[in-house]
Amino acid sequence: MPRILFMAGHRWPDYATVLPRALEEAGVAAEVSPDLAPDAVDYIVYGPAGDPAASDFSVFPRLRAVLSLWAGVETIVANPSLTVPLTRMVDPGLTAGMVEYVTGHVLRHHLGMDAHIVNPEHHWANRAPPLASERPVAVLGLGALGAACATALVSLGFPVRGWSRTLRDVPGVACHHGPEGLEAALGGARIAVLLLPLTPGTENVMDARRLARLAPGAVLLNPGRGPLVDDTALLAALDSGALGHATLDTFRTEPLPREHPFWSHPKVTVTPHIASETRPATASRAIAENIARAEAGQPLLHLVDPERGY
Ligand SMILES: NC(=O)c1ccc[n+]([C@@H]2O[C@H](COP(=O)([O-])OP(=O)(O)OC[C@H]3O[C@@H](n4cnc5c(N)ncnc54)[C@H](OP(=O)(O)O)[C@@H]3O)[C@@H](O)[C@H]2O)c1
Repeated sequence: MPRILFMAGHRWPDYATVLPRALEEAGVAAEVSPDLAPDAVDYIVYGPAGDPAASDFSVFPRLRAVLSLWAGVETIVANPSLTVPLTRMVDPGLTAGMVEYVTGHVLRHHLGMDAHIVNPEHHWANRAPPLASERPVAVLGLGALGAACATALVSLGFPVRGWSRTLRDVPGVACHHGPEGLEAALGGARIAVLLLPLTPGTENVMDARRLARLAPGAVLLNPGRGPLVDDTALLAALDSGALGHATLDTFRTEPLPREHPFWSHPKVTVTPHIASETRPATASRAIAENIARAEAGQPLLHLVDPERGY
């Protein structure tokens, strides 16, 4: 019987019932616990714990795979003690939440909602917003989350350009790839959404030059990872008026330090890394499916490539 260490201790109460049930439904007879002797552990369900000692995987002699509870794996992928396969989280609940966050914040900016929500002088600005079809959106990253968000934005009528490392085919989306494709994806976009993983190839991808590719007054949404954006260049673009607004959910340091200029900047909206999160019920089914596959000798789904970093 395989033994599964749930190495995201503070989340155990959310999973204590649903994960064993999902394993049972997937036909896996397994013991799952946040507390197992290292030499008994076959699989690890992993969430960053903050304790570096908790990430020394060399102490698990039987370990067969690590299944990340998180979609972003930048805190574990380069861990030298990790010598077994690593999977990242692809969870329908996580994806649904991200689609809701991205469409909600895109529509906020597209419709100019703020002007009518806070209007102390009762200004009668009766000019209708443009149609979505007049507002090109760039979605950087066309993986599980980016493709779903791009598809939702297409269904609302936005002309959507997407960008990925390899060429993707997302119906209704003008897909670009590779370094040269980024210029085309960003050129003249009025809203840009970042849903890239953090890797050496994506850090600071939105630097001063890339920000300047966007349309004057464009809006940046970053629910991806903080270091995707050059913060200094972003603040300069906002201050000069080149960019109209930035809605940021992820930051280089989290929680965002109280004194950070983003908190008080009139053109920045800070959301505290709540764009979406892994949902225990649906994520447990994804984990159970992968462990069932491993037990049956089938290849794992959503494997991370350590060379690529995601
Ligand atoms: N704020 C939140 O609450 C929250 C929640 C969950 C996840 N996230 C973030 O969202 C990220 C994306 O998640 P996901 O599940 O959609 O990941 P994913 O399925 O692995 O997709 C990643 C996408 O980024 C592209 N990409 C990677 N490196 C690139 C590069 N150097 N140049 C161009 N494109 C590149 C990939 O290209 P290919 O298609 O060619 O592989 C792929 O399209 C996560 O890594 C995490 O950082 C945030």
